[in-house]
Amino acid sequence: MAAVRLLQRSPVAVARTVCRGSRSTSSNRGALEKPPTVKDLPRVGVLELLYRMVFQGFYSRAHELQLYEKQLYGSIYRDGMKNVSLTSPKLLEQVLRSDEKFPCRGDMSFWKDYRDMKGFGYGPFTVEGESWYKLRTVLNKRMMLPKDSARYCGILNTVVADFMVRLIYVRRCSPTGDLVMDLANEFYRFSLEAIATILFETRLGALEKNIPAGTQQFIDAIGKMFSNSLAVVMLPKWSRNLLPYWGRYIDGWEGIFSFAKPLIDKKLEDIQQRIERNQNVEGEYLTYLLSNAEMDTKDVYGSIAELLLAGVDTISNTLTWTLHLLSQHPQIQEKLHKEVSGLKTADGTPSAGDFAHLPYLRAVIKEALRMYPVIPFNARVMSEKSICVGGYHFSKNTVFTFCHYAISHDEETFPEPFTFKPERWLRDGRERPNAFGSIPFGFGVRGCVGRRIAELEMYLVVFQIIRMFEIKPDPSVGEVKCLNRTVLIPDRLISLYFVDRGCKKPA
Ligand code: HEM
Repeated sequence: MAAVRLLQRSPVAVARTVCRGSRSTSSNRGALEKPPTVKDLPRVGVLELLYRMVFQGFYSRAHELQLYEKQLYGSIYRDGMKNVSLTSPKLLEQVLRSDEKFPCRGDMSFWKDYRDMKGFGYGPFTVEGESWYKLRTVLNKRMMLPKDSARYCGILNTVVADFMVRLIYVRRCSPTGDLVMDLANEFYRFSLEAIATILFETRLGALEKNIPAGTQQFIDAIGKMFSNSLAVVMLPKWSRNLLPYWGRYIDGWEGIFSFAKPLIDKKLEDIQQRIERNQNVEGEYLTYLLSNAEMDTKDVYGSIAELLLAGVDTISNTLTWTLHLLSQHPQIQEKLHKEVSGLKTADGTPSAGDFAHLPYLRAVIKEALRMYPVIPFNARVMSEKSICVGGYHFSKNTVFTFCHYAISHDEETFPEPFTFKPERWLRDGRERPNAFGSIPFGFGVRGCVGRRIAELEMYLVVFQIIRMFEIKPDPSVGEVKCLNRTVLIPDRLISLYFVDRGCKKPA
């Protein structure tokens, strides 16, 4: 069996195969003159990939496949999708430092199909080239800089306060009075409420005791879309009418747009009425987009849907992983509590600027994102130029897949890579890891547009939780592993004890 044969090939043997292409002996001088190319890389066949996905169970653990293939082939190889996979920080840096003016992540047509069917526009994930650049110029304003995100601190603090009220209610309802039974779901509600407050300038009620039906349908729709995405990418188009994944995938998109469109339409109507009454058009993000001459309404639909999608699963899962890790590491949690409770604030709510004085809190979240990079895969296609990476020459249009899970667990960069050590990130004189070892928000001009908001949101909520509660594991949960559902999620419901520290609620 091909896969078994590959398992028997040692990494050393594989490394020798790689070196052979660039060795300078008289017998292969021709190879010296021409640098090795994609053809000289170790490669994974399509059948091998299928075997690994289906029979070895990597379909839902594609992040672990990165570690497995790194063991077999080293830090650069041709994967089963015919792309060039990179698993080391140095090679990742080589590609990203060569980013083009309009960086491209590759084929996102699977995110366009539904919109093409319905006539909605694209957003920052799906648009490319000069149009992408123009769109990002508009979207970046009011989001990208720390001072942009700081303007949302007030409303985010209000959402955090409501979330704390909900947490207290949820734990009170538990059999022991202090257990939060499905933490990921609570954080999902929180991050949805927070991003919607910023994007739509309205509250959705996701933190109320009973979640409104439409909001729940939206949450389910995102889940449906993400969990069927891998099948859409991997399976041939002809299977779409034969297998159920395609219908579910399209249903997911339908639910996402049915939720976002009326909220956008309502805001548009509101703006028009204000203009008719000669009133000032005031507001935050959506108002800014809708009143921007550069933006077509159909593009606002496309962009807002993508911003919503990007801002919910990423934040909620990162928060879930962070609290899970803190519950497993009481000493780290105590150190964090000491830092957090030492901050003097007027009313118990920190401002965006306060986090400059909370290095351990920032390090905890950075380390959680290293251990669980919520987006474990990313990519770049160099569409204008050829490029040299790891001594190999690649012609233009080569697709590079970044294996972020393997990269952020690289032992050379992060000794004891599977151990939670926020100290790695402190600027206290120690040597800091290679910056490309963990880039959870991507890199450069195509990097995450919501990074500043995401960080602020996570700092604010973790600050309040750790200030008020001691987090303890629930032994009945057992060992938590992660699944890849486009984003890294826990393989089971995580429940944690929130033990009251007897501290005042935020205002
Ligand atoms: C923990 C939270 C988050 C993480 C880890 C994260 C991570 C990422 C990553 C890795 C990328 C790809 C960057 C690249 O290719 O270099 C990305 C892109 C993007 N993110 Fe985030 N993200 C988070 C939260 C958010 C939020 C809250 C928003 C919206 C407000 C957002 C909006 C976007 C958008 C629109 C893009 C596409 C940018 C483009 O292609 O131009 N993200 N994010």
